[in-house]
Amino acid sequence: MKKGLFITLEGADGSGKTTQLKKIAEYFDEHNINYLITRDPGGTDLGLKLRDILLNYEGDVSDNCELLLYLADRAQHIDTKIFPAIERGVVVVCDRHIDSTVAYQGYGRGLDIEKINLLNNIVTHSKKPDLTLLFDVDTDTASKRVGENKDRLESLSKEFHKKVRMGYLELAKAEPERFRVLDANRSIDEVFEQVKDVLDSLVLS
Ligand SMILES: Nc1ncnc2c1ncn2[C@@H]1O[C@H](COP(=O)(O)OP(=O)(O)O)[C@@H](O)[C@H]1O
Ligand SMILES: [Mg+2]
Repeated sequence: MKKGLFITLEGADGSGKTTQLKKIAEYFDEHNINYLITRDPGGTDLGLKLRDILLNYEGDVSDNCELLLYLADRAQHIDTKIFPAIERGVVVVCDRHIDSTVAYQGYGRGLDIEKINLLNNIVTHSKKPDLTLLFDVDTDTASKRVGENKDRLESLSKEFHKKVRMGYLELAKAEPERFRVLDANRSIDEVFEQVKDVLDSLVLS
C-alpha cells in the first residue's frame, strides 16, 4: 500500500470508534505504514474551538448554525490537514466525517439531506473517503457504554439515536463499495478482528 488513502470511521457514540482507532494505529505501526489519525470535529487548532462550542455550548444553537459549524470545522480540516497529508502519501484515518453530518443533522435532526450533501461536497471538493468503516451498534448498548457523562449530542433522546443508526445503515446500503458495516455489539477484540480483515485486504493488495 504505497499511495495515500482516506479512511473514515463512523457510528454512534459508544460504538467503539476511538477504542478501535488505537488498535488501527498499532496495526499500521506493525506494518510500517505512514498514517495520520485525526477527528471531526476538532482536527485543527481552529477546529478545537469549534468542537468546544459544538459539544459544550449551553445556550440554544439553531440547527443551521450547528450544521455550518460542523462544515466550517471540516473545511479547515480538509484543506489544511487531511488533503495535504493524502497528497504526501499518508494514510489518513478520520474519526467521524461527512456521513456523521448526514446521519445526525439529516436523519437525526431532520435537516434536508440534499442541502447537507451540497455543503459536504463544497467543503470536501466532492472527494469521498476511499473506505468508511461503519461501527453498527444497538442503541441501548451504545448508551450503556457511554454511561453518565454524556455531552450535548449524546444526551439527545433514544428516538434520535435510532434515527441516526437507521440513517447510517441507509448510507451504507447506498454506497456498498465505500462502506464496510461491522458488528460493533461484539467484544473489543471481536470487533477488531473484523477491522483487521478489512485492513489486511488493503495492506496486502
Ligand atoms: N466492543 C466493545 N465492548 C464493550 N465496551 C466497549 C467496546 N468498544 C468500546 N467500549 C467501551 O465503550 C466506551 C465508548 O467507546 P469509544 O471507543 O470511546 O466509542 P466512540 O469513540 O465510538 O464513542 C469506552 O468506555 C470503551 O472502553
Ligand atoms: Mg470517540
